[in-house]
Order: sequence, then C-alpha cells, then structure tokens
Amino acid sequence: MNLFLQTCAHEVTLRRPVWIMRQAGRYLPEYRAVREKHSFQDMVKTPELSAEVTLQPIRRYGLDAAIIFSDILVVLEALGVAYGIEEGRGPVLERAVRSAADLEQLSSSPVSDQLEYVYVALRLLRGELSPDVALLGFAGAPWTLACYLVEGGSSPDGFAAIHSLLTRQPSLLGTMMDRLTEAVIAHLKAQLSAGAHAVQVFDSWAGLLSEEQFRRVSLPYLRRIAQALEGENVIFYLKGAAHHLSREEAAPFPILAVDWLQPLSAYRKTLGERPVLQGNLAPEVLKSDAATIRRKTRAVLTSHGPGTGHIFNLGHGITPDVPPDHVQVLVDTVHEHALEPAA
Ligand code: CP3
Repeated sequence: MNLFLQTCAHEVTLRRPVWIMRQAGRYLPEYRAVREKHSFQDMVKTPELSAEVTLQPIRRYGLDAAIIFSDILVVLEALGVAYGIEEGRGPVLERAVRSAADLEQLSSSPVSDQLEYVYVALRLLRGELSPDVALLGFAGAPWTLACYLVEGGSSPDGFAAIHSLLTRQPSLLGTMMDRLTEAVIAHLKAQLSAGAHAVQVFDSWAGLLSEEQFRRVSLPYLRRIAQALEGENVIFYLKGAAHHLSREEAAPFPILAVDWLQPLSAYRKTLGERPVLQGNLAPEVLKSDAATIRRKTRAVLTSHGPGTGHIFNLGHGITPDVPPDHVQVLVDTVHEHALEPAA
C-alpha cells in the first residue's frame, strides 16, 4: 500500500503519510559522513551518492516518501550558469543575469540533456525503494529560481536586485520567467518519466512578494506548470503565499504544500475539500522536547480533521541543528494517529 499515492488520490487510508522537506541533510550524522568525503556538487552529480543519501532518512525512519537528493539550482546550471554552495554563505552563482544581453547568453539546448545524472539516480532509486515508499522529484518555481539568477546567489539583503528588475523592467523579468518556466516543465517531466511518482515545485521565496505581486509575478507561471503536468501528482509549495489563494485560484493545483502562517483548518475552510494539503508543522518545533513535539504534531493532525487528503510534513525544511531522534518522535506520533473514516 502506497499511502502517499492513495492520499494524493483522496482515498481513505489507515493513517496519514509523512515525509519531511530537506529530510536528507546535515542534521543526519550519516549525511555528514558522506559529505566529509565529497563536495555537495559531487554528491548531486554522482547517481550512486545521490541515491545513497536519498535513502538515509528512509532507512532510519518510517517515512512514506523519498525525495531525490539534488538542488533547485541544477536547472540554472543546465541553462549555463554554474553554482556552488559556500560554507556559511549558501548558494553562489558564477554570474548574475540582469540584462537582455545576459539573458541571451543562457543556453538554448534542452535542460534535460544536461541533467541526465538526476534521471539516472531516480531510476536507481525506483529499483531500490520498497513499493510502499513514493519517490519524489522536484524543481524550483520560476520566481524562486529568478531570485537566485538575478542576485547571483543567496542574498543578504532580501533579493534587492530582483525587486529592482520587477519595478523597472517588468517585461525583461517576464522573458526570464518564460525561459525558466519552460526549463522547469522539461525537468519535471523528465523526472516523472525516469520514475518519480510525484514532483514538488518549491516557491520558497514567494513570500517576498506582496499579495498583488504574487498574483501578477509568480502565480501565472505556476499555473502554466500545473497545466503542462495535468493529471500528474504535482505538489506546489508556496512559502509565505498559500494563504493568498482563493478557492478558484487554487483549483489548478492538485496538491498544495503550506507553511504554518495559518492552521490547516483555515486552509481547508478557504480552499474546500479538493486540494490535497501537505504540511504544516513549524520546523522550530523539532528543536523542543519530545512532549512538545508530540503535542504540536497532534495539533496539526487534529487541525486538518478526519477528512482525506492530508500529507504530514513541516511547513519548511528541517534545519541542520535538529537532533535526529526528534524526527522519530514526530514520525511515531503521525503513525499512532489513525485516520477516522470521513463521515
Ligand atoms: O529535501 C531533501 O532532502 C532533498 C534535497 C534538497 C536540497 N535542496 C539539498 C541541499 C532540496 C529539496 C533542496 C531544495 C532547495 N535548494 C531549495 C528549496 C527548499 C527550501 O528549503 O526552501 C532552495 C531554496 C535551495 C537552494 C539551496 N541549496 C540552499 C538555500 C542551500 C543551503 C545553503 C546552506 O549552506 O545552508 C543549498 C544547499 C543544499 N541543498 C544542502 C542540501 C542538503 C546543504 C549543502 C551541504 O551539505 O553543505
């Protein structure tokens, strides 16, 4: 029984599926052991290493989904802008893309030709994972990728460069968003063809935009992705923006991953029964004691209520300072909570 896929289909299940954003990462000693011997890039680009690190949290906890160890920035590299991860600084791109001339220099060859290593890792994983664990691929949302592309990496000042582009050269930003959307769709389709059961689109920086800007600058491109992948299990993670969506606006999105700005009951009230909801425990909670983790995990489960269509997750990625046994407390609490059949 694949609980994740059953939940995507709104089937009644004995319990809710659970996985954790950024579940493969530095909070795990076994991850740090591999990372000591290899650079982040080597791990991402070597399918055996990527598959191994993807499986680490699956072996440790009873998680219902494995997310491929990769990065949202691989799509920028495939477009011709290489990236690195610097200790204490985060992602750094080899150059920023800010003008029409910069944009013209992006590679026009299909991104999927450059990202074969991701698809090889996914095929390896499909062979190794038990059929009751779902395999997830992912990509950055066009807006979030544009933030990094225009800034040239992570930003100490809240991505000022893209805000300037947004006000001064909206049509240039539009052209960039078109290019990125096309690349993201190609990468997501290729991951599904390589065996991913579902894919997640990370709009991690959607919350930098005002409500009106989000509607104008990010949402149309997310809609285009949803349209291109209609019928597939696509999770849209809109950090800091899911609460802007009306029921009509959410209709194209089959699965919405939400942050903790609102309780799940509020998202359900606005959005109705249709979208599957993924979330939404605040990552901070994993740093508290076991009793608090249990209590707050139960609060999320109860807030959603007994209906179908809830995938348990955090509202954002797990941080490197979380003790690994705290994750087990969370997973066990979700496992113990039986889903009452919908009335
Ligand atoms: O969820 C998983 O376990 C899969 C792996 C995954 C990584 N990055 C691995 C990673 C996923 C899904 C991502 C997505 C990603 N990458 C996002 C969206 C998710 C989110 O949290 O909002 C973003 C914004 C990025 C860009 C990026 N790459 C950042 C901000 C960082 C962290 C920089 C830092 O030093 O903290 C990276 C590097 C990165 N990607 C690491 C991991 C495990 C840490 C690299 C290391 O080991 O040094």
